[in-house]
This record gives sequence, structure tokens and C-alpha cells, in this order.
Amino acid sequence: MKHNRILLTGAAGSLGTALRPYLGQLAEHVRLTDIKPLTDHETHEEFVAADLTDLDLFIELARDCDAVIHLSGIPVEDSWSRLLPANITGVYNLYEAVRANGRARVIYASTNHVMGFYPRTQRLQVSVPFRPDTLYAATKCFGESLASLYHDKFGIETLSIRIGSFRAAPEDRRMLATWVSAADTFALIERALAVPSLGNSAVYGVSANAESWWDNGEAAFLGWAPRDSAEQWREELFAREPVQDPCDRAVIYQGGSYVGFPHPDDKEAAVVAEIEEGR
Ligand SMILES: NC(=O)c1ccc[n+]([C@@H]2O[C@H](COP(=O)([O-])OP(=O)(O)OC[C@H]3O[C@@H](n4cnc5c(N)ncnc54)[C@H](O)[C@@H]3O)[C@@H](O)[C@H]2O)c1
Repeated sequence: MKHNRILLTGAAGSLGTALRPYLGQLAEHVRLTDIKPLTDHETHEEFVAADLTDLDLFIELARDCDAVIHLSGIPVEDSWSRLLPANITGVYNLYEAVRANGRARVIYASTNHVMGFYPRTQRLQVSVPFRPDTLYAATKCFGESLASLYHDKFGIETLSIRIGSFRAAPEDRRMLATWVSAADTFALIERALAVPSLGNSAVYGVSANAESWWDNGEAAFLGWAPRDSAEQWREELFAREPVQDPCDRAVIYQGGSYVGFPHPDDKEAAVVAEIEEGR
């Protein structure tokens, strides 16, 4: 069944741009929003530029929407002063906007990095406790916690997608396990909007890769069957990166290089100190 209207936040970003061409299959009207301008849109699309830290604007945007696909935010590790508005206030405003409007189902772009400090030798169910590898990932844990609260208290349904590595093709050896294609991601969103009941659920957003650290058994009710696989790029990626140190934390842990990132504000402070020293 086609929905009447869905809202896509973060529409100018890499996922938003890749998913937009599919969304007309899900709804008659697709409302796009981003803080960045978008000049082109199709007849079934409308675009409203907005900073989603503004709750009143977000409430207006969510009006009359059957679903909100929330991609907006900072997608990598960053300073706390940037993460706080984009990822914390942004996701709080998302749930308040949906609560104010009463009925939209939420698809929340979480990340695999909420589990980054689990070793690759451990296969993870969806319901194991978070072990975020960055402040960025901790903001996504907060988003998933809000999803839980707003479901239990206000009945709002969410699918949190712990997106692996959304790329045209896998770019390094880690992505042989974490890669997810646009087609598989769209198929997942389609299932999330089609099932009669979603509750508050989470799923690892990963293609049918031969190597995998994640078990989506708890999300089997979605009926999602990813079709793509990173395997065809294995030889090329091993040729590009022939040696890996098994004692390297970036190889031991699922989060890869994210587990070794410094505190972003220490880094900022270090960079500032370096610049000042150079003067
Ligand atoms: N790309 C991946 O592989 C990947 C992996 C895991 C999770 N994710 C999550 O998926 C989402 C989309 O990722 P992406 O790669 O497309 O990121 P992106 O940076 O390309 O897109 C995010 C968009 O959000 C917008 N935005 C940021 N702050 C905003 C604000 N205050 N108000 C309105 N718009 C704002 C940006 O302008 C940008 O266009 C993110 O939430 C990210 O954390 C992505």
C-alpha cells in the first residue's frame, strides 16, 4: 500500500541522494528537508530547507506525514559542540515533532558503531547492550533510547537501522563485512513501512555479505532479505590491503578505525595548540 506523504530528513546527504529515486514507490508525496539547499526535485517531491534544531519547524515538516525517514545529522566522529545540536537536539526534535503530529512511523538512521567495541569474533544479536566506539556512536545510542521511550510511553513506532557502510561499493577490507547497498537499504525501508506492526525495533543494515558479525534473527518479522553482497570485491580489496596486523585494535574490534579515534575535542585542542605553537 502506498502511503500519502513521507518526510525525508537529511535529503541532500549521501544516503538521502541515493534513496530519493526509490521513495516515490512508497508514497504519493515525498517531503524533503535539509539544512543544505536542494535545487532539483521531481513532481512528487517538495523541498523545505530547515535546520532541524528548530522544533517548531520540525513540527510543521512532520505534519500530515505517515512516516519520517530521519537521516539528518553528523555521520562521523566530530566535536561535541557540533554533535550536540545535529544529533542530540535533532533526534529529540524528531520525536517531539512526531508526538505533536500523532501518527508517523519513524525510520531512524542509527549506526553499526553503537556496537563498535565488540570484537569481530563475537556474532551480535540486535538486543545485546550497546558498546559505542565514539561520541558520534553514543549520540546514536541516545537516539535509539528515545525510540524506546517514545514507543513505551507514547506508542510511536520506530525501526532503528544500524547502518553498516553505505557505499556504491566496499572501499576497504572491513567493508567486506559491513557494506550495504542502496537497493538493500531501500528494500529494508520498504518492509519497515509495510509490516502491520513495527513496535520499537532495530536491525543491522547490512547486505548479504559472506562475512558478517551481525545476526538479524530478532528482526526476521520484517521479512527483509538483502540480496547484494560485498564478496565480488574481495580479491581487489585484499590486493589493495594485503597485510593486516591481528593485534591492531582496528582489526580486533568491529568499529575498525573508530575505536582508535581520540576524543574529538582533545584532537581539536591539540590542533589549536599546534597552530598556536607554529605562530
Ligand atoms: N553513510 C554511511 O555509511 C552511514 C553509516 C552509518 C550510519 N549512517 C547515518 O545515516 C545518516 C545519513 O548519513 P549520510 O552518509 O547520508 O550523511 P551526510 O552527511 O551525507 O547527510 C546528512 C545530512 O544531514 C544534514 N544535516 C546535518 N545537520 C542538520 C541540521 N541541523 N538540520 C538539517 N539538516 C542537517 C546535512 O546537511 C546532510 O545533508 C546519518 O545520520 C548517519 O549517521 C550513515
